[in-house]
Order: sequence, then C-alpha cells, then structure tokens
Amino acid sequence: MVKKDIISIRDFSREELIHILDKAKELSADSEKHTYLQGKILGTVFYETSTRTKISFNVAMKRLGGNVIGFSHIKNSSFIKGESFYDTMKILEGYCDIIALRAPWEGAARYAGEIVSVPVINAGDGANQHPSQTLLDLYTIRETQGRLDSLNIGIMGDLKYGRTVHSLLMALAHFDCKISMFSPPSLRVPSRFKKFLSEGNIEFQEFEDYKDSVNDLDILYVTRVQKERFGDEREYKKVSNAYHLKKADILDVKSNFRILHPLPRVDEINQNVDSTEHAAYFQQARNGVTVREALIYLLLMR
Ligand code: CP
Repeated sequence: MVKKDIISIRDFSREELIHILDKAKELSADSEKHTYLQGKILGTVFYETSTRTKISFNVAMKRLGGNVIGFSHIKNSSFIKGESFYDTMKILEGYCDIIALRAPWEGAARYAGEIVSVPVINAGDGANQHPSQTLLDLYTIRETQGRLDSLNIGIMGDLKYGRTVHSLLMALAHFDCKISMFSPPSLRVPSRFKKFLSEGNIEFQEFEDYKDSVNDLDILYVTRVQKERFGDEREYKKVSNAYHLKKADILDVKSNFRILHPLPRVDEINQNVDSTEHAAYFQQARNGVTVREALIYLLLMR
C-alpha cells in the first residue's frame, strides 16, 4: 500500500478499497500468517472506550505474530496529568511500529500522522471518521451480497453524529448503490456528506420512517444514537428511542436482506432479530479481525 496512514475513507480510491478487502480475504485463508510480524509492536492508543475495535486490533496483531501495548481510556494515560497529545505521540513513536488511535477530537488521527513517522490507523476521531469500521462493513456487505454495486442500502439512526455512517457514505460513493437514509429530523446526515454524495452522482433519499421501505432493501445499516456526542441530555432523550427494529418488521423482506450494525447496540434492534437469517451484525464484528489484519499487514509489509 502506498499510503503511510489510514486516516479517512476519503483518501482511498475504489481500487484501493477493493485491494484491502481482497487482502483480508486472502489472509483469512492463510495458515502461515502468524509469523509475518514477529517482533513488531502495535500501540492501541485509545482515549475513548471500545470493545470491538480495540480487541479486534489486538487479536489481528497477535494472529500476525506481533505484540500489542497501549492504553484504553484517557484516565489511564498521563494526559490527565497535563501531558500534551503531541508529547504522547512522540513517546509512542519510540515504543511501537504502528499505532491504532481512538480520540474524541475530530482530526486527531490526521494530526498524529503528521507528528509520528510510524503508520497511524484512525480507530475513530470524534464524530468524524472510523475507516477501519467502514472497511469491515464493506467486507461484510460483499460477503453477504456477493458484490458492492447495484445494491439498495438503508442507513438508519444517528446520521448526524455517527462516525461509522460518515465513513460508510464516503465509501459507498465509489459504488453504484441507491441509498435511503432514515433518521429523526434532528439527526439527519450533515450537509457536507450529502454534497459529497451529490458530487459523486449517488442517488439518495431521506426519510423519518423505515417501515415503508424495508422490503425493498438489500442492506439495512442500523446505528445507535450517540449519547456521548450530545451537549444536552434532554436533547438526547428526545431521540434516544427513535427506532426499535423487531422481527415482525422484517417478515416480508428480500431473502438476501441483511441487517448490519457497527455495535454497540442499545435498543435499536430487538434481540428477537438475532436468530433470523437477516442478522449479520455479529458476523460483521468477527470480520473486524480479518480486515484489521489486512490493514496492519499492508502498512507494515511494504
Ligand atoms: N464498532 C465500534 O467501534 O465498536 P467499539 O466502540 O466497541 O470499538
């Protein structure tokens, strides 16, 4: 891979995205991969909490034969003693061969990439981007549908603050898909992403309710309302229960219809959906390991 860092989906062409997905598929079938990165260290530098992203990066690095160091919350770093982000990155540059960074500040990963000489992977920067999540979303869409073009894709929930939504929209702009966006009016996708879709001639529509559209979809990508991004808890409460997808809502969907969710879920999908053939969110989370293996491999084996 030519790039030093994975910061934003916007930095990648269609061909580069497909190359990463193909490498992930190849590595998933490679039994020799556990020695590739012997002696290499991944720093998982997480100023915000995580279950999937942090753990799957850890597993991915270990499956490639490397080791992992890092911290998992701002409280576990010397940031709270007053150390600057710049200094922390300079220190980690001396300890690791590659860094996966999650921070609440938009642009933090791009800045980190400028500070350090080792590769940086953006593991989520505020409400901005989550590119490794998008790659595993694309991987799961391709795995379940057999293609990334000519799909009818619904995206539902918090489209304003959801960074996985923002990255996914930018990626889908490379593919010939029809996009339906379902959200409460106050959580519509920011205009800069709509402009991006319009410039790419991507067909999209905005709705409040999904029920009249769900039977036409191939994919429904559900997201939680991002409580941590609201300045006022009362505003969060007004929209926190906007959606609750149940088995009864998907009785007449297409046979190839699959539900994705970056997780964690709060109450957007009832557990009675989990046992249907349409639930693909746990498969999607598992794919996080495979796709992150490919990212680390491509960045370190250049
Ligand atoms: N999908 C995702 O980013 O989950 P975590 O916050 O648990 O890493």
